[in-house]
Amino acid sequence: MHIAMVGAGYVGLVSGACFSEFGFEVTCIDHDTGKIKELQQGRLPIYEPDLENLVHRNQKSRRLSFTTDLQNAVKKADVIFIAVGTPERRGSGHADLRFIYDAAKQIAHCMGGYKIIVTKSTVPIGTGKKIKEIIKKIRPSIKFDIVSNPEFLREGSAINDFMRPDRVIIGVETEEAYQFMCQLYRPLYLRETPIVRTSLESAEIIKYASNSFLAMKVTFINQISDLCEKVGANVQDVAKGIGLDGRIGQKFLHAGPGFGGSCFPKDTKAFIRTAKEYKTPQLLVEATIKINQNRKVNMAARIIKIAGPRLKGKKIAILGLTFKPNTDDVRESIALTILPALHKKGAKLFVFDPYGMAEMKKHINYVTYCDHAYETMKQADLLVILTEWNEFRALNLSKIKKLLHNPVIIDLRNIYNPIDMQKFGFSYYSLGRKA
Ligand code: UGA
Repeated sequence: MHIAMVGAGYVGLVSGACFSEFGFEVTCIDHDTGKIKELQQGRLPIYEPDLENLVHRNQKSRRLSFTTDLQNAVKKADVIFIAVGTPERRGSGHADLRFIYDAAKQIAHCMGGYKIIVTKSTVPIGTGKKIKEIIKKIRPSIKFDIVSNPEFLREGSAINDFMRPDRVIIGVETEEAYQFMCQLYRPLYLRETPIVRTSLESAEIIKYASNSFLAMKVTFINQISDLCEKVGANVQDVAKGIGLDGRIGQKFLHAGPGFGGSCFPKDTKAFIRTAKEYKTPQLLVEATIKINQNRKVNMAARIIKIAGPRLKGKKIAILGLTFKPNTDDVRESIALTILPALHKKGAKLFVFDPYGMAEMKKHINYVTYCDHAYETMKQADLLVILTEWNEFRALNLSKIKKLLHNPVIIDLRNIYNPIDMQKFGFSYYSLGRKA
């Protein structure tokens, strides 16, 4: 079985590498010649734990290859995945489907016989049907099937999410395509992974509804966290107490500075746009977006308040720039709100992130990028933790105490215990717990 993966971005690369690990022959195609050259030489454009090993291993065994030649790859493929980006269209909230439709047109021109075309990218409801129309128009006499097979990969744990998913969603129109997709995911049968067969539209909604629900869950606990602060409760206890109810579940109940990343912010916006078009506004999701945006701004205000009115010239140490740990992705990260706000007030910022600094340098050049966590803290008036990287969880507190000019720590990820911090003599501020 041969798979063509159109788009060697995050989703395409992870999915392609994982399918090749299952034993299939996979060709990843991208029009970015620079990226393909790098990949051919084994250099990856993104950081994702274990991905490099997986790619190298399968490249070596010749099950995984990279090319810009879409025509050849499509010709020999039994199934073609579309895994190109669907960015937001100029701040409108709409998903920009240009790359999807371009891919569909190119695939149509190259098809020699029956093919299964699968969308892996996150696409608005109705896109599968539109792809079908596009291909049919170009190749009216060739038989093909369209499938919607959304991904649920989290950055930082994408390989595990692919290999051990909670479920696989297969939106199809024919039995033939369904059976074929089941063959592709056969290696997961051993784990008894549920395969959910749906229509194209249902599969498309499942993806947006899942991300919107998770974003809403995070936002819910963030609001509860604010209340906990006011009444002297502990949000971690509250999250545990409600999460142990099996109907609610414990995951995605960590209070934080507001969700970020390339998916929740973009997908929630695209979802409410689509819902409005169908005259069924998704008010909970609309509120989630607004609350999250405000939260990020409030986080900056909170730091400024704690730091005191005269921030000009004060030195602030910042740990963590990525939107979450185990990724180099800084898209919509809280750091992108906090750093400009503190800079505007005249603070001098010293920052460190294990993998995110190269990406952040593309956006922000007025901070000092440090080589390690402790370097940020020398004579700093304040230490702020923005991302919960493991290496920040067990820092040497005595050393920090000596390095800081003022023993003040703001922890927006709740990774330290307030009582321990008090014992060490820090003024410690976290979320949803007593200062
Ligand atoms: C998300 C979904 O979790 C994946 O299932 C989905 O496949 C992916 O989007 C996508 O659509 O491609 P991802 O954006 O990688 O994955 O990151 P998450 O782990 O979901 O975290 C998103 C944001 O929520 C982060 O900023 C994180 O810090 C925040 N978060 C998450 C919290 O603040 N608290 C939590 O309890 C969980």
